[in-house]
Amino acid sequence: MEENIQRVLISEAELRAKVQELAGILQQRFADKNPVFVGVLKGVLIFFSDMIRQFDAQCQIDFMWISSYNGTTAGEMTVKKDVSTDLEGRHVIILEDIFDTGGSLDFTYRHLLTKHPASLTVCTLLDKPSRRKPGITLQPDYTGFVIDNVFVVGYGMDYNEQYRNLPYIGVLKPEVYQQ
Ligand code: IMP
Ligand code: MG
Repeated sequence: MEENIQRVLISEAELRAKVQELAGILQQRFADKNPVFVGVLKGVLIFFSDMIRQFDAQCQIDFMWISSYNGTTAGEMTVKKDVSTDLEGRHVIILEDIFDTGGSLDFTYRHLLTKHPASLTVCTLLDKPSRRKPGITLQPDYTGFVIDNVFVVGYGMDYNEQYRNLPYIGVLKPEVYQQ
């Protein structure tokens, strides 16, 4: 597996430090609010589990699964699995692995707004602003790392469902895509 990785973009130690920082900020803001962390599967899985373990106060968790009709990020989005928690009047924190073209997070945000949360906060581990498609005005409230336009894998993120289990974030060798 690792022979297909060109370079490590964000190391395990850097991820650990950033998660601690972000969870600390969220804790200051939400410690007395019993927030609901909502993750968008599957890519957020590792970031999500690391974040909630650093959040040292009462909270709940839930998950959504969304997909695009065309199988690409350009397509229309649909909810494959919705949250089961009643979010009315709750403080909701969306955790996301990467804010890329913005379609997924924008869709998730609008969807969760319809459930009338008391507040809706967006925290993304990675942001690739150069990839944003026109019309996306949503800005994450908290961002771990702003990265260039490179395709990354690991720490939950995949290429063809592979590499999610790498403990760091890496850049794939170009020839891996071009097969
Ligand atoms: P968006 O709708 O284009 O913002 O896409 C967001 C989703 O696409 C993320 O939640 C990831 O699952 C996936 N994605 C975008 N860029 C990458 C990448 O560089 N590596 C792995 N997955 C990515
Ligand atoms: Mg995702």
